[in-house]
Amino acid sequence: MTERSVGASRRHDSAEAHVAGRAVYIDDIAEPPGLLHLAFGLAADGHARLLGIDLDAVRAVPGVVGVYTAADIPGVNDVSPVKGDDRLFADGEILYPGQPLFVVAATSVEIARRAARKAVVDVEPLPALTTIAQAKAAGSVIEEAQRMARGDAAAALDAAPHRISGTLEMGGQEHFYLEGQVALAVPGEDGQVHVLSSTQHPSEIQHLIAKVLGCSHADVTVEVRRMGGAFGGKETQAAAFAVAAALVAAKTGRPAKIRADRDDDMAMTGKRHEFSAGYDVGFTPDGRIAGIRIELASRCGATWDLSSAINDRAMFHADNCYWLPAVEIVSHRLKTHTVSNTAFRGFGGPQGMLAIERVMDAIAVHLGLDPLSVRQVNLYAPGRDVTPYHMTVTDNVAPEIIAELAEQAEYARRQAAVAEFNARNTVLKKGLALTPVKFGISFTTTHLNQAGALVLVYADGSIQINHGGTEMGQGLMIKVAQVVADVFAVPVDRVRVTSTRTDKVPNTSATAASSGADLNGMAAFRAADTVRARLADFLGDRFGCQAGDVRFTADGVVAGDELVPFETVCRMAHLARVSLSSTGFYATPHIHYDRATHSGRPFLYFAYGAALSEVVIDTLTGEHRVLAVDILHDVGRSLNPAIDLGQIEGAFVQGMGWLTTEELVYDDRGRLLTHAPSTYKIPTAGDRPARMDIRLWAAGLNVEATIHRSKAVGEPPFMLAISVFSALTAAVAATAPGKGLPALDAPATPERILMAVGELRARG
Ligand code: MTE
Ligand code: MOS
Repeated sequence: MTERSVGASRRHDSAEAHVAGRAVYIDDIAEPPGLLHLAFGLAADGHARLLGIDLDAVRAVPGVVGVYTAADIPGVNDVSPVKGDDRLFADGEILYPGQPLFVVAATSVEIARRAARKAVVDVEPLPALTTIAQAKAAGSVIEEAQRMARGDAAAALDAAPHRISGTLEMGGQEHFYLEGQVALAVPGEDGQVHVLSSTQHPSEIQHLIAKVLGCSHADVTVEVRRMGGAFGGKETQAAAFAVAAALVAAKTGRPAKIRADRDDDMAMTGKRHEFSAGYDVGFTPDGRIAGIRIELASRCGATWDLSSAINDRAMFHADNCYWLPAVEIVSHRLKTHTVSNTAFRGFGGPQGMLAIERVMDAIAVHLGLDPLSVRQVNLYAPGRDVTPYHMTVTDNVAPEIIAELAEQAEYARRQAAVAEFNARNTVLKKGLALTPVKFGISFTTTHLNQAGALVLVYADGSIQINHGGTEMGQGLMIKVAQVVADVFAVPVDRVRVTSTRTDKVPNTSATAASSGADLNGMAAFRAADTVRARLADFLGDRFGCQAGDVRFTADGVVAGDELVPFETVCRMAHLARVSLSSTGFYATPHIHYDRATHSGRPFLYFAYGAALSEVVIDTLTGEHRVLAVDILHDVGRSLNPAIDLGQIEGAFVQGMGWLTTEELVYDDRGRLLTHAPSTYKIPTAGDRPARMDIRLWAAGLNVEATIHRSKAVGEPPFMLAISVFSALTAAVAATAPGKGLPALDAPATPERILMAVGELRARG
């Protein structure tokens, strides 16, 4: 007797292998004979005209087998996802420090890396724009500013009884995946190449290799078993590594591997976009927003990458859970001579959401109201339910989740206790905040919302499942295996999870936008269901019953009066020449978007959650601790509660890192100064809040017909960490009551907290 798999807490399929060190990553694979090791030669300085590269000294290093530049590319010198503007190797112009200029192939990693530094690069330095302010002043953009609006914001602002304005700066974030960027290319017959890449997007890597090599998609196979973390950093930016490896394999006929060391990885690859947000908001005496103007500006870096869609998503989330009766959101996408920023968990959403949550805190401080009550009066509600992009919110559960969390975590009692603590203490000050999340699920580029799967049932009743989704630690493979196991009512260990390969399922989308399980789970379900239906037809014929009456149960397959073990059914079907494999396909229904007017239904549904964080700051040092966190999060009907709880905890802590300790510092040429863990601080186990109470919302149910009514979980809980930033803001405000909203920017490092305390106390 086996339990239903879906809905059960199953451990990650690689959990034991992860902790025992048996899970194989690309750099663990036994090296093929004749392997060449690669290293990029990087631009040391920023924006410049590239006059020439003297590679003689590089070639002269014993063990160097070849050096390749833009001139050696047989196809097109482009590794970009959308726009055609990312060079594999700089050609004519250097756009940012860390840009690859050439690649060295050598007999060892050490030789390749040492030789790469011997190039003599002739440049004419050009002025560099590195900050949002500089790019804005110079009118340097990747695309024209976008505007999203509903109602007459200007008139509503003029008529409102209260009106305030302010700004907020938010830093970027390094992905800090534990496994860095890596690829291994093995040449095959007739110009074919097989590439193992640590990528969220095998199909795009395949297509780009073909573009650079000037061969067909069919000549290239890309395979991914797992990534050691990705977080959006391998959605597009795995490409340069994989393509360079494929280029060397094609040039030399030998296998080639490239693995960036941590400093190069951090210097070379894009990060979360820094944002600057301005707001002008009008509201009523009870804190209801009447009209609002939000202006966002982000640093996109040197090229387009995914910046257009990321900035759109920031606009889509600048409402968060709140009804903005008259609203205008303007978004500037600035081009700088810094590394090209890219996807990172939340994909712009966190930045938009932090802006509106700051507005909530600003209104509360201005009116002397409790911030939670200001949030609650502004929530979407029936008749007040149209977003700035004209989509009606029909699945709004934020009010219920907030109320439940406030009750369960004793918001009112704890807020009173914090006030009492602050009245008694002068050095330490506490802050408490409860903030909600509403996150739109679907790729906002509509055609990306598709997935394919291939289910293979073998004659012994074992099952292999392939789909376009990739595993980066998030538990996608086990979820999809659970879905397939239930179709046949077999134990989940009967289903073998294999690597993702472009020669099994073609033309797939990136595993991103949290939609991995939604898309691939449904495609795999359909593939499995096709095989199940064939088996039912076959058994119906064989045992003289209706196919529709054949039941797959935990004890075996019931057909008429027979109970046949699943493995026997498979063997019988094989002998009877029934096909036991099938593809499945899914395209998300109901979504559409008109980018010219910024209106439509970009999302199939929303994922919701809320978090309450309690912090304490030391007003002498600026240091803080997150004392307690209570989370209530909606994953619909969970496919796997253990995995979902892990995603929520990990996302929250990663969000906390973004808002508190992770600080990217660049010099005035755009060189990243914080390019190693010595100077860039991600949260450690010791930074995990002392008490974390994380619960899945028991009433969760997706009103849309997603796979088993589940909801996406990968990104939404990242933004629950905004409660920490809000609590820190409250703690700083408590150092000088009545003096207004602290000027606290993100990340709230000890330095910034200290400066905010000083500035607030100094106010007149
Ligand atoms: N969880 C782990 N352990 N490692 C990761 O790299 N990436 C996140 C999230 N959770 C990530 C993760 C990001 S950015 C996304 S978009 C989703 O997982 C992608 O996977 P999914 O669509 O299957 O949720
Ligand atoms: Mo996640 S940022 O969509 O890869």
